Formats: sequence, C-alpha cells, structure tokens
Amino acid sequence: MKWLTLAAALIAPSEAALRFGCSTLSIQRLDPLVEPGKVPSSHLHQIVGGNAFNATMQGDIGEKGSCTTCTFTEDFSNYWTAVMFFKHQNGSYMRVPIMQNAALPNGINGGMTVYYTQQDFNSNGNQKIKAFPPGFRMTVGSPTTENLNDAKGHVGLRFVCLTDKNTRFPELPDFPTKPCKGGIMTVHHFPSCWDGKNTDSPNHQDHMYNTAKEAFQPAGACPSSHPVRMAQVAYETLWDTAKFANMWPADNKNPFFLSYGDNNGYGTHADYMFGWKGDSLQRAMDSSCMFQACENGKPLKSQGVAQMNACAVKSQVKESIDGWLTEMPGMNMKKRQVEFSA
Ligand SMILES: *[C@@H]1O[C@H](CO)[C@@H](O)[C@H](O)[C@H]1NC(C)=O
Ligand SMILES: *[C@@H]1O[C@H](CO)[C@@H](O)[C@H](O)[C@H]1NC(C)=O
Repeated sequence: MKWLTLAAALIAPSEAALRFGCSTLSIQRLDPLVEPGKVPSSHLHQIVGGNAFNATMQGDIGEKGSCTTCTFTEDFSNYWTAVMFFKHQNGSYMRVPIMQNAALPNGINGGMTVYYTQQDFNSNGNQKIKAFPPGFRMTVGSPTTENLNDAKGHVGLRFVCLTDKNTRFPELPDFPTKPCKGGIMTVHHFPSCWDGKNTDSPNHQDHMYNTAKEAFQPAGACPSSHPVRMAQVAYETLWDTAKFANMWPADNKNPFFLSYGDNNGYGTHADYMFGWKGDSLQRAMDSSCMFQACENGKPLKSQGVAQMNACAVKSQVKESIDGWLTEMPGMNMKKRQVEFSA
C-alpha cells in the first residue's frame, strides 16, 4: 500500500495551465447567475464565451452552444464582469471600450483574457486538478462592498494602472486616482477550493473557498470543508480609459464608474458559468501543456481570431449603451423608484 502511494506520487503527471483570449460576445443587462430570468438585470455586463448565454441557463452548458468567442472551441463557458463608464464633468456618461490584452493573437475584438492555472503563473505544479462539473457556477466579489478595508480583503480582485499593456504591478484594491497612460486593467481571481458536492450555493460563493494569494503566487492549501483543488480561474480585462485623458475633471476626482454605480471600485466582482464540453477541461488539466502550446489539438481544439470575433449574441434589452448617456443603463434612480412603487 505504501509502495503504491509512493509510485502514484512519482508518476503523477505535471498539469496544464491555460491562458487564452475571448472576444466580446455581448454587452447587455442580463445575469443568468445572480438574477436568472430577469430581463433586464440591474446593471450592465460585458460577456465573453459560448453563445448559449441567456437570461436563464441550466443544465450542461457545454452541450448547448454552437459557437464560442474563446480560443478553445470546446469551451462554451460564460465569463462576465461589470462594465466601466467615464463620467464627464457635465454629468454625461460614456462606456469605456475594452482593449485586447498583450500576449494574445492580434485582432481580438475587446473581450477578456481567461486563465485556468494550477500552482501559479510560471509553474504547473504537480497537484491533481479537477475540472468543474456540468452546471457549476460561481461569483467572486460583491457589488455591495463599501469600504477600502473590505476591498483589500478580497484578495485577487485588483486594479492595475497601465503604463502599457504589459504593466502588472502594483495591484490596487480600488480605482487608480490618476490618469493611467495605458488604460486600466481589472483582475478577477476566483476561489479554487470546492466543497466537492454543490455546483452552486444560495450566495453563489459558499460552495467555494479562496486560498489565493496576490498576483498568481502559489495558493495556500485547501481546508477540509472545501478539500477539492479545482483550476484557478482568473480574468484580465483591459479598459481603454486613456481615450478620456483630455477630459480629466478639474477637481481631479476619479471619473470612472463600474456599471452598478461604483466610483471607488470596492465592489468589483465577476461571474463564471462553467460550460466546457464533455471532459475537455479535465483532459487539458491532465496534460502538461502551457498557454498557446495547448492549442491545435494538443490537447484542445482551437480556432482563429476571425471565428472568435464572428460569434455573438444579440442583446435582448432595447436600450442604448454607447455614445453620451444621461445615466448608466439601469441606474436611473428616479425611474427605479417609480418602478418599485408601481
Ligand atoms: C434565450 O431564451 C429564450 C426564452 O427561453 C429563447 O427564446 C431564446 O432562443 C434563447 N436564446 C438563445 C441565444 O439561446
Ligand atoms: C457633455 O460633454 C460631451 C462632450 O463634449 C457632450 O457631447 C455632451 O453632450 C455633454 N452633455 C451634456 C449634458 O451637456
């Protein structure tokens, strides 16, 4: 028995790390995870991934999509975050466009960079990583976070003031306070310890436990309440805030807002809906590929930028989200009061 355990440890395969781009699938007010069935949802999201994205999503998403905006064609998962807005001194808002990240193929339409790593950024480690089961979903962070201390406690949810697309430090718990020459990056690391039973929980977080440390450092061990080590999912989103530099307000106050009305960034959060087809994610995590080397069937099927950009979902919400707006979508407090009292 002892010998078997030792042998198993010696032949344990090194595991994979994925990093890939996903172009924008849709920018609209839907939230199948936190507000299922509600059209429109309370605030605006930017969404990437499979085209089964809808107001309500149940069952095995990997069996439902017909295209994906992500590099790997068996990945019909959806990944989404709040949208960023610029507020002009005159009170008007404009959506901040998303930019393509560094280290991805050219021509990706906005979108996000998605990671499924194991030990840390540079090392695959040697721990067995479990893929998420069909139906799995989770959120990280909370839009109701109201102070800096609580935001600091959300390890892995950070902002980076970019000099250029390769800037990664320092990581800030809230919005940068000066104009950032290369834009702003938001980073969302999800927890990676699972309770081994539930694909969701009432607050969409209790079935997971976070042992992540800052900036892709090796995570701590999983606790006995959440003993199963899953892939470390993380998003990077680059916002082209530099295009508003010549409209920086005279009072020097941060002019950027997240789409649920957050001007500090304390409530930064993200949503994940697992949708890899069959055992594709497990096959990838059991291989030893890293980043681009996982493409072209080694072991994952992949597609080019033109195909990624061609996949899209039409908005079900008829409202304008571009150009100068008098308020962020869904954020008209007066109108909301009327709706609630009606
Ligand atoms: C979204 O759901 C509605 C209502 O169930 C359905 O009519 C529509 O086809 C769905 N859209 C997609 C893209 O699956
Ligand atoms: C605010 O400024 C922008 C840019 O100059 C302009 O296009 C927009 O109409 C202005 N909004 C209001 C309410 O004046």
